[in-house]
Amino acid sequence: MTTLGIIGSGHIGTAVATLAQRAGVQTVLANSRGPESLTDKVAELGDQISAGTVAEAAAQDIVVLTIPLVATREFPAEILAGKVVIDTSNYYPSRDGRIPELDSNQTTVSELLSAHLVGSRYVKGFNNIAARHLPQLARPAGAADRSALPLGSDDPEALAQATALLDTLGWDAVPVTPLAETWRVETDTIAYTAPYFDPDTTDAGGEDSRPVSAESLRETIAAATRVDTGARTV
Ligand SMILES: NC(=O)c1ccc[n+]([C@@H]2O[C@H](COP(=O)([O-])OP(=O)(O)OC[C@H]3O[C@@H](n4cnc5c(N)ncnc54)[C@H](OP(=O)(O)O)[C@@H]3O)[C@@H](O)[C@H]2O)c1
Repeated sequence: MTTLGIIGSGHIGTAVATLAQRAGVQTVLANSRGPESLTDKVAELGDQISAGTVAEAAAQDIVVLTIPLVATREFPAEILAGKVVIDTSNYYPSRDGRIPELDSNQTTVSELLSAHLVGSRYVKGFNNIAARHLPQLARPAGAADRSALPLGSDDPEALAQATALLDTLGWDAVPVTPLAETWRVETDTIAYTAPYFDPDTTDAGGEDSRPVSAESLRETIAAATRVDTGARTV
């Protein structure tokens, strides 16, 4: 069975590890501080999840890279050469600083980062959903209320592998290709986080999500209009 490496043990890294534990996917979780700092977290997550170094996580079959955008831009690309990498990062100028190529809408976050992660088999994923909604909405294949996530890639084989992983983790996938089109699922578009929020339940710590079918997500992505990134202040 496919093994998973997760680099970044924050909100999204922990949420994806929770899905992996439920699905029985052997996973190595890494962060910037080293495996010792993850002892309590992996014990809590369960027996499928172990703590490792960044290199150990990068050696698994598929790698989820889920660290801040500024760290992704500095991540040593050679560690991920040849790997299917699912990058989750989003651009928040207030956190990441202004990036002229993104502010001008000249490129997308995924094009920028795939160019940096040269040699990897790049996929954009898990970026348009609030972390807590990932475990809330995961369902087995065939469930009537299964939800979908977008996956962006210019690499059909990597996209197929990421789609299969998502299926194992409890999610359908909607392809967004080529990467130049992934602005459709970037911050502040109609496809970004809002579809998964249930407007009738506002308890931020509880089940405040609603299922989003692949068909519904496809329609939302098609209807998205591009945000003027340079005008964003957050
Ligand atoms: N939070 C969300 O709901 C959400 C939703 C969609 C997408 N995203 C995007 O996904 C990415 C991660 O978000 P998050 O909220 O999960 O972040 P987070 O909670 O702040 O966690 C970031 C993690 O990245 C690790 N890290 C930072 N630099 C690293 C490096 N060079 N090597 C290895 N690990 C490194 C940190 O390690 P330490 O723990 O050792 O500091 C930490 O575990 C961001 O780009 C964010 O925009 C977030």
